[in-house]
Amino acid sequence: MKKFYLLLSCCLISFLSFSQTSKNGLAIIPEPVNTIIKKGQFILPKHVVIEAGATDDIKPVTAYLKNKLTTSTGVLVTVKNSSSTPATIKLSLNKKPDTALGKEGYHLLVSTKGVIIRANEPAGLFYGVQTLVQLFPKEIESQEVVHHVSWTAPCVDIKDYPRFAWRGLMLDVARHFFTKEEVKQYIDQMVRYKFNLLHMHLTDDEGWRIEIKSLPRLTTVGAYNVKKIGEFGSFTPPAADEPRTYGGFYTQDDIRELVQYAKDRFVNIMPEVDVPGHSLAAVASYPELSCTPGAENYKTRSGEHMMNFSKGSITALVDNTLNPSSEKTYAFLDKVLTEVAQLFPFGYVHMGGDECAKNFWAQSDSVKALMQKEGLKNMEEVQSYFEKRVEKIVESKGKKFMGWDEIIEGGLGPKAAVMSWRGIQGGITAAKLGHEVVMSPTTFAYLDYMQSDRVMEPHVYETLRLNRTYEFEPVPDSVDAKLILGGQANLWTEQVFNIRQVEYMTWPRGMAIAEAVWSPKNKKNWNDFYPRVEKQFPRLDEAEIKYAPSVYDPSFNASMSADSLLKIELTNEIPGLDIYYSFDNSYPDRFYPKYTEPLVAPKDATQLRVITYRGKQPVGRMITMPIAELKSRIERRNRRGQ
Ligand code: ACM
Repeated sequence: MKKFYLLLSCCLISFLSFSQTSKNGLAIIPEPVNTIIKKGQFILPKHVVIEAGATDDIKPVTAYLKNKLTTSTGVLVTVKNSSSTPATIKLSLNKKPDTALGKEGYHLLVSTKGVIIRANEPAGLFYGVQTLVQLFPKEIESQEVVHHVSWTAPCVDIKDYPRFAWRGLMLDVARHFFTKEEVKQYIDQMVRYKFNLLHMHLTDDEGWRIEIKSLPRLTTVGAYNVKKIGEFGSFTPPAADEPRTYGGFYTQDDIRELVQYAKDRFVNIMPEVDVPGHSLAAVASYPELSCTPGAENYKTRSGEHMMNFSKGSITALVDNTLNPSSEKTYAFLDKVLTEVAQLFPFGYVHMGGDECAKNFWAQSDSVKALMQKEGLKNMEEVQSYFEKRVEKIVESKGKKFMGWDEIIEGGLGPKAAVMSWRGIQGGITAAKLGHEVVMSPTTFAYLDYMQSDRVMEPHVYETLRLNRTYEFEPVPDSVDAKLILGGQANLWTEQVFNIRQVEYMTWPRGMAIAEAVWSPKNKKNWNDFYPRVEKQFPRLDEAEIKYAPSVYDPSFNASMSADSLLKIELTNEIPGLDIYYSFDNSYPDRFYPKYTEPLVAPKDATQLRVITYRGKQPVGRMITMPIAELKSRIERRNRRGQ
């Protein structure tokens, strides 16, 4: 009887997942506000006429669309700005604004006769184009012309606009440097899913990545360290004679080029200068910024162990902070911000503020004197003093000040905006004090976390699977929603050594974040989302964008039974998959035993191998799980008392 119910529920699950995949045949991410499917199909003709207004601000949209169509379909595309000949695709700015659409919304009409996109602003037209692209076959994503494809799109009437104005991704270009061309590649990827903000983490202990003309050592010295490959955080300390040639930086011309490239795709770039902690590259370049004697011997970090994090306390082995009690620090930041503010038109400058180790401040006579003079009771108040002074400098350059949620601790500056990363509590506190907030909590939005089991991923201290990412909700119940500007996901790159891994870490979790910040809250539904993600995979394959297939990897949960047998439970993230396994060191396929209930490891087994299938198709990766690894997880858990 149990088996019968199991069979019935399996049938139901596969029926449900099938019917959801084919709900309306579309797989748009992020899900639009309102989609009506019409009868019929639009067939892309051999000669496409795009009609758009003559204004300069639409040109990036038409250029983007023309490039997209010609690259993959090979059709001839003509752009014109009058209605003398009938248009195939018409991009039209509303004369009278459609208030529901706002600045970034659009109305996309695809009929058998042609395509019309209407919007109040060019950004809306751009997002309409992104949705249109997702209606065409996957080959539209190809980097070269694909023949023998029926270039059709279903007829639809879509009205769509974002839930939040701040839809961000953060790329850490400091831990590892990514070239200008790679950053452009990342921007191209983010706009597919309607992100509009790239937060560049430009400075850290490992490197200073932006040319500051008045402070040349920041890049001649601060932009380079020793190349190390392996597991970041535990690299051997570099020897004195190892070449410091690894890294790089963006010249001011590079930055201007990136800002323009992003602008043409309706993306703002927010610079982050991370101070007062995470500042070893600055201190190695200008040791007078440190309150610690001997800083002239400091070098940029090359991934060696440098910080100790224990509950409630952070200590550094070398002083990677700026001296909060020295006027030289504020003069330095004034110079940096003068140039940064001129380079980035975006309204906010992010000044970091996270994870500032204060053990060297506590030993400094100069910091103690500052505390006495200013009546500062503890190190959090010292940081708050620093942050408030930096806020004034940022504002003096005509920008708004933003920082990680640590800036709340010793008292928040008058107009500081907060990016909440240690969960959402910092964001709640700041919003309750009337401050602007962007939510980017580790719990849902940290793209550096592992996506699958630890045996499958470069090691980071936490795991964040796609289904958990999808639960990201930027607005807590208890706060004024107007103060939540939006949300973003952060990709720290300690363990990310190249751009392909940047892509792998970002997709598909970036799609889950995109839906959290664009789509209406009541449209979010995991069972509807994951089939759309699966339909995006072949599109990313066409575009040759790397993504993680981790959604097909099961989770492992091991326990020890009373009679000392190792029990292993496997859980799939999405339904409708079968797991096949072996304990005999061979590679399982679908003719091996199928997982139906928790496994008991044979006494002498050394490893469990698993692979997931959908029907006859292997979809998951071959995972080899050492039995010793599972046993040590149990021991660790027992030690922690869980
Ligand atoms: C952070 O993740 N340290 C902001």
